[in-house]
Amino acid sequence: MKASIVLLPGDGIGPEIIDQARRVLEKVGQTFGHEFNFESHLIGGIAIDKIGDPLPDSTLQACRKSDAILLGAVGGPKWDDPSAKTRPEAGLLRIRKELGLFANLRPIKMFDELADASPLRREIIEGTDILFLRELTGGIYFGPSERSGSGAEESASQAMVYTVGEVERIVRLAAEAARGRKNRLTSVDKANVLEPSRLWRQVAARVMAEEFSDVHYDVVLVDAMAMHLINRPSDFDVVVTGNMFGDILTDEASMLPGSLGMLPSASLGSDGPGLYEPIHGSAPDIAGHGIANPLATILAAAMLLRHSLSANAEADAIEAAVGEVLAAGLRTKDIARGGESIGTVAMADEVLKRIRS
Ligand code: NAD
Ligand code: IPM
Ligand code: MN
Repeated sequence: MKASIVLLPGDGIGPEIIDQARRVLEKVGQTFGHEFNFESHLIGGIAIDKIGDPLPDSTLQACRKSDAILLGAVGGPKWDDPSAKTRPEAGLLRIRKELGLFANLRPIKMFDELADASPLRREIIEGTDILFLRELTGGIYFGPSERSGSGAEESASQAMVYTVGEVERIVRLAAEAARGRKNRLTSVDKANVLEPSRLWRQVAARVMAEEFSDVHYDVVLVDAMAMHLINRPSDFDVVVTGNMFGDILTDEASMLPGSLGMLPSASLGSDGPGLYEPIHGSAPDIAGHGIANPLATILAAAMLLRHSLSANAEADAIEAAVGEVLAAGLRTKDIARGGESIGTVAMADEVLKRIRS
């Protein structure tokens, strides 16, 4: 197979972890006889610094032509001025929107070997295997915003907007995913307070009744969900929710496997290339120290192989290698819980060694 993969390293630890995921993909290419063609492009703060735009046209064009995109992270204190005319994060939001990547798959899978890396007790997290489907191109992230007035009268607003079509397509995808898993779907909203959540709940109920009556379906309010995730995470199978609730709940859920540094994600549309990235950010507090956990990005590369290139055996090989590395007791600092740890490159070396066809 030949495939062209666009790399968007971005900011902070982004370049460090993308370098390592690329080495793993190269090893997969050699092992399985594929030709991966990599092109790196600018996004985020570094693109603001070099081109004045967090998503330059050249980057967007290259992404459109590619088979898949692997992104590190964007943002950092350098670009955090609230009155700046643009921000690194705007580049990420725009690429998601431009490519129509409305479905963000965030699997929360336990690695048995890491059960003791979690701040939660083993008996609570054991058996946890959740697939979050976060709606990614609508909701409050993309609603109209405004600032007006001045002084003590200055105000700011941003609207949460969902259309029927936006809710239907993400709920359908989530229900289909549930059919291939434990056949359970939970929809999370705030329908007791928010109008768009009431629309979301009505549309989801109709889609489920009309098209997925075989799937066990329930609804949970987002505040309660934040609690259930910590209290009884193994009860959930597929969880579908809006853009902001999905953002927040999945960072919370990262503590089940033990670290944000372990969780990959896939952003998919109805056609065109998918975008793959860790769910964590640019980690400015550890950037440049060589200690970032590359496994979330390496696992995102596995999702890329599976979802964009239909290379299932290759994706399995990466996931198996990561499992073996953890079983061997190898840890980056974030999952070491005070014990011995290795750096970013050494961790990738250990994964590379274990990639087999
Ligand atoms: P963050 O996810 O960057 O970091 C949160 C904490 O987790 C930090 O202590 C960090 O060191 C740690 N961490 C994250 N990834 C890690 C890894 N791979 N290995 C070890 N430790 C890791 O969140 P933040 O600090 O709130 O945000 C920093 C910047 O990143 C902000 O500008 C934010 O907008 C941006 N951000 C970008 C993305 C993205 O590009 N997709 C996602 C989230 C945040
Ligand atoms: C994520 C990030 C982004 C989001 C930011 C950086 C725009 O937190 O990918 O989870 O909120 O979607
Ligand atoms: Mn986030």
